[in-house]
Amino acid sequence: MFMHFLDFPQLVRAGGTVRLPGSKSISNRVLLLAALAEGTTEIHNLLLSDDTARMREALQALGLSCAADASGVWRVEGCGGRFPVRQAELFLGNAGTAFRTLTATLALAGGDYLLDGIPRMRERPIGDLVDALRQLGARITYTANPGFPPLRLAPARIEANGIVRIRGNVSSQFLTGLILALPLTGVRVTVEVEGELISRPYVDMTLKLMQRFGVTVEREGWRRFTLPAGARYRTPGVFHVEGDASSASYFLALGAIAALPENPLRVEGVGRAALQGDVRFADAIAAMGGVVTMEETAMTAHAPAAGLRGLTLDCNAIPDAAMTLAVAALFARGETRLANIASWRVKETDRIAAMAKELGKLGARVEEGADYLVIVPPDAEHPLVPAAIATYDDHRMAMCFSLAAFAVPLRIEDPGCVAKTFPDYFERLQALVTPAPVIAVDGPTASGKGTVAARVAAALGFHYLDSGALYRLTALAAKEAGVDWADEAGVAALAARLEARFGAAGEIWLNGREVSAEIRSEAMASGASRVAALPAVRESLLFRQRAFHRAPGLVGDGRDMASVVFPAAPLKVFLTASAEVRAERRYRQLRARGETADKAVLLADLRARDARDMNRAVAPLRQEADARWLDTDTLGIEEAVAQVLAWFAER
Ligand code: DC
Repeated sequence: MFMHFLDFPQLVRAGGTVRLPGSKSISNRVLLLAALAEGTTEIHNLLLSDDTARMREALQALGLSCAADASGVWRVEGCGGRFPVRQAELFLGNAGTAFRTLTATLALAGGDYLLDGIPRMRERPIGDLVDALRQLGARITYTANPGFPPLRLAPARIEANGIVRIRGNVSSQFLTGLILALPLTGVRVTVEVEGELISRPYVDMTLKLMQRFGVTVEREGWRRFTLPAGARYRTPGVFHVEGDASSASYFLALGAIAALPENPLRVEGVGRAALQGDVRFADAIAAMGGVVTMEETAMTAHAPAAGLRGLTLDCNAIPDAAMTLAVAALFARGETRLANIASWRVKETDRIAAMAKELGKLGARVEEGADYLVIVPPDAEHPLVPAAIATYDDHRMAMCFSLAAFAVPLRIEDPGCVAKTFPDYFERLQALVTPAPVIAVDGPTASGKGTVAARVAAALGFHYLDSGALYRLTALAAKEAGVDWADEAGVAALAARLEARFGAAGEIWLNGREVSAEIRSEAMASGASRVAALPAVRESLLFRQRAFHRAPGLVGDGRDMASVVFPAAPLKVFLTASAEVRAERRYRQLRARGETADKAVLLADLRARDARDMNRAVAPLRQEADARWLDTDTLGIEEAVAQVLAWFAER
């Protein structure tokens, strides 16, 4: 199902065990190595995600058999370096690993191919790799912009028996792609890296995987790599993909932020024995104070008693996992400086800019440099604020920002982008975290739910959300701005920008002016009921209401608290009373204010409103199946409050 957003309440605790999906970097390399090898390779724990789907589809389009059996084991029949399909157009989405390795491989594979991806892929540089391949005799043309995909590849005229130079400081995937494809030339080739080689652990992984497929590259430092003449890939038969170390970073950080020693966060599938450089994230989060234990193929983490502390780190070796540090920095004492991360700018999005912008929306102070990022944690003068986080079609933006929910409620936009590497990330996360508690109190008009909810909140020391007040404020804001209550788009836009503040003693400010009494008028009640019937207005106010769901807890009252706003509330109360009793209460209230009233008219009014509320199309009044029924016909306020507190304690 396509989801526009995912809302998080403030989370208070994490703990438990997660088994990691297979590594993306290893899965895509092994798929290609298995395809190039002689013989059939059986692959276990292959990652199933968008990026590896692009690689699998590409191999199938190239005529290879690549399929899973019922137990999820994949079999790739290798082609010994000769793809059956000599002419194809391949679409590789935004899969960098697939694009770079297939560019090099197909440029040397003797066929005619066109390689393309999504618009962002067309913005990601590939010129350094193309320049290197051309030195080997590859014939590559840019069909749009020089230096960028799409690429047209024609059969190479291999002319190398010597040295190829390649730049190493933009993306290590260029070197990975080049070296991985070299056996297709059949000749001895030496690759010389110009400039600093970044992300070295990924190149190391490439070399180790090539070795598993029978090809040994001679490495001199990180400058020269030599492939002997006549090297050929041979299947190792069976290959087990280790868990994804970059994905592990979210769970280790989760543990370091919010897990207790007695219930730590345990990640299974990757550990000390890993091929992936990103396991070194464990050292980084430990340097921030996280308590991490490493095993051969598992890691556990919990929070330090003294809290996390900021750090300065050269992140060159762990570029992807370092994004997780940027969010963990919000929970640390002292600033965090992530250095040597220029490669972030050419990833799924410009990750330095995206990270700075979205951390800024949460109220964090961030300094963005060409190749670094400084994050200053919040303090009393600079608290974090709930915000909707844009994810830029970047899986890692979505995953790392979910951790910020331990500081404030937040909204993750386009959460489905995690499918690139971790399709069920949010489900896994949900199973490991505890949100702040919330009590939803629904009920008909004049049932006393506002009074009961406010008193329960006070008794528990929880926050209180009077959702009706937000509709009343919206009506007032519309009136002041001269926007008609029937103008759905106009009122919804106002609701989205409502400058409202709630005081501890029930005071309410709109645009800095106290309006507590004003919004209680009959005129605003009527305006509120008009604007509350507009779906776009309800949508605009949804996240604003959920932003109240903070530690230590929340009591929210309103007619859709349990059904729409907090459907996962562990305690839902449907507070009601017969129309007669409610009319009687209203009558006494009005008389106390010195107003005249007619009981029969009040009763008829209430009944009409109930009917309208229950039958209206948007957010109709109804008791949720899992809500407790509390009839206040015979109960006083105190007894009703005591009953709700008893239910909460029993939970
Ligand atoms: O509870 P109240 O009287 O302050 O509510 C004002 C109006 O807003 C009323 O017409 C009901 C509507 N409302 C709503 O539709 N959904 C809510 N969650 C709260 C109030």
